[in-house]
Amino acid sequence: METNQLILALSKGRIFEDTVPLLAEAGITVTENPETSRKLILPTNDPNVRVIIVRATDVPTYVQHGAADFGVAGKDVLLEHGGEGLYQPIDLEIAKCRMSVAVKAGFDYANAVHPGARLRVATKFIETARQHFASKGVHVDLIKLYGSMELAPLVGLSDAIVDVVSTGSTLRANNLVEVEEIMEISSRLVVNQAALKLKRERLQPILEAFARAANRS
Ligand code: ADP
Ligand code: PRP
Ligand code: MG
Repeated sequence: METNQLILALSKGRIFEDTVPLLAEAGITVTENPETSRKLILPTNDPNVRVIIVRATDVPTYVQHGAADFGVAGKDVLLEHGGEGLYQPIDLEIAKCRMSVAVKAGFDYANAVHPGARLRVATKFIETARQHFASKGVHVDLIKLYGSMELAPLVGLSDAIVDVVSTGSTLRANNLVEVEEIMEISSRLVVNQAALKLKRERLQPILEAFARAANRS
């Protein structure tokens, strides 16, 4: 492991955009735009720091295996991954949303979740959904989806969905209602446990800058 070189794993879109100001606090500027570049390894103004662009759900995997030294991932994604091999020092308070249960308007959720009932739930967040309904004693048939969860109750694939909600406009646009909040979600800094030891000198000032910027927001 080259101890001077740092690789940061980010996903395109809201995580990248919300991490740019945190990097600025550490004096780091990404010098290519992931929305327009086809490159997956982006240079920064610091020759020792590079950013890799991966899918949001893959960030923990790259960091766990040390292919990236650190990364930014949502609590939703980290709970599904399990967090193995990851040190999670800072809640960055970015990409805030909540994990919720939603159903089609008019569906009698309260009556459908009495203990002993069986509910069909479509979600990308299988582990979170499993734990949530187990804690309520509700039996669920979980249907794994990779996106557009809001569609599932509309076409009869499921009775309910578990998905992230922010403004609620996606639910409203699809005639769904939020019936239960499971947890608040924000994004965390995740650091490879070996890198934290071997590259502490290089990582520490960046982690401190991220913490300063996160505490101000
Ligand atoms: P994906 O391609 O996996 O959907 P996103 O960029 O949409 O990636 O989501 C990355 C993270 O941002 C999620 O893991 C979640 O923590 C958070 N997030 C998702 N949707 C929203 C939203 N509408 N508003 C705020 N944060 C969100
Ligand atoms: C996310 C999420 C919801 C929506 C919720 O989708 O999967 O569909 O945001 O936000 P709202 O409550 O403000 O409408 P996203 O925008 O990330 O699209 P994608 O993941 O399907 O690409
Ligand atoms: Mg998304």
